Amino acid sequence: MNPLHRQFPADFVWGVATSSFQIEGAAHEDGKGESIWDRFCKQPGAIADASNGDVACDHFHRLDSDLDLIASLGVNAYRFSIAWPRVQALGHGEFNPRGLDFYERLVDGLRQRGIQAWATLNHWDLPQGLQDRGGWNDRDTVHRFVDYARHVQARLGDRLHGITTHNEPWVIATLGHDQGNFAPGIKSRKIAAQVSHHLLLSHGLAMQSLRADGAKSQLGIVLNLSSTVPATAMPADIAAADLADSRSRRWYADPLFKGHYPADVLAELGADAPIVQAGDMAAIAQPMDYLGINYYTRSVIAASGEDWNAKGRGLPVSDMDWEIYPRGLTDLLVQMHRDYPALPPVYITENGGAFKDDALAQGRVQDDDRIAYLREHIAAVARAMQQGVPMAGYMVWSLMDNFEWASGYLKRFGIVHVDYATQARTPKASAEWYRQFLRDWRG
Ligand code: NOJ
Repeated sequence: MNPLHRQFPADFVWGVATSSFQIEGAAHEDGKGESIWDRFCKQPGAIADASNGDVACDHFHRLDSDLDLIASLGVNAYRFSIAWPRVQALGHGEFNPRGLDFYERLVDGLRQRGIQAWATLNHWDLPQGLQDRGGWNDRDTVHRFVDYARHVQARLGDRLHGITTHNEPWVIATLGHDQGNFAPGIKSRKIAAQVSHHLLLSHGLAMQSLRADGAKSQLGIVLNLSSTVPATAMPADIAAADLADSRSRRWYADPLFKGHYPADVLAELGADAPIVQAGDMAAIAQPMDYLGINYYTRSVIAASGEDWNAKGRGLPVSDMDWEIYPRGLTDLLVQMHRDYPALPPVYITENGGAFKDDALAQGRVQDDDRIAYLREHIAAVARAMQQGVPMAGYMVWSLMDNFEWASGYLKRFGIVHVDYATQARTPKASAEWYRQFLRDWRG
């Protein structure tokens, strides 16, 4: 059998990923404004351990050593995000001249180390100043986002290999504005639908503007997708799974690749469907240079609405209680390729897990669960490639343990352990595994 590393071409992109709010800290430095996550963390009960992002991994102050850490893994790409409120405190009005200094040092540091820089413009930390004006529910935020995107490109575009407009718009819309367990904590299906449309529209308009300004980077978006399957072969479960797939996957992918929203979800939303203006759908359907997919688990759907609980059924789960199901990644990629003939090169922009074996013991973290998870999911990517899916890269979530949103610091996704009391970084066994895998791949 061909060893795993040989199944990937020499130009494959291998990375690790993070996001600004989850690692940077320095919440009030150099003129940074408040983000909706800074605000949300203050709501009693919002974060499992009542923590916040004020310090996080203190990455802002440890940039150089963290860059060395990234380089030591042997990756050829690093995916990070830019905190909009650092660049423009309120999200409207003046840009903060110091805001991009940090990212310039980051990007130059990656370049010196021969690592591609992949920047995400919106990994959820919207300036609170825009939320105060209605946030993503307000159409004006779309235009503010385009201005911000252009500002970033003007300063850093010549050194960014990739620019991602949004990370996981479904999470922003649904968890942030319908379920309300993520910032900004709104619970309205109608608002969530409008937010999803504005996120997609701002993606499309930003793509157009960045290109008109002479973009040198690969431009795309990152979606969180799972393979959605019915709990049983009963017609009712099959129909429920199909609708669930439409709500999460096709609601975003159809507009991007086909220029329209799926009819079944529009019908379900009825009067809560988003207001769409003339020209919006064409703007959203801009051809992209790549699609980023974050994959963690599959979803199993029952018509009864019963939570089909993998843990309760004795199936393997991560510390998030998400089922470990590598085959779902192959299935999803093959399905995307089949559903969207115009699919551009695909990057797995996040994949990884939080695990119970993440504790540091005698200076080591022996996270065999994570090693198995990564190996099996990389193998799932190889299988998709063999079936013709245009795979271009794979990035582990995450470089290091960090602020896991509503779970605070209780869940650890890193291949590098972080001791939050000392900020010591200790590569876990999985980091050694990834490093060796990449060494073998380079040959
Ligand atoms: C996806 C998000 O992009 C990232 O911020 C988060 O930490 C991981 N999923 C794990 O939940």
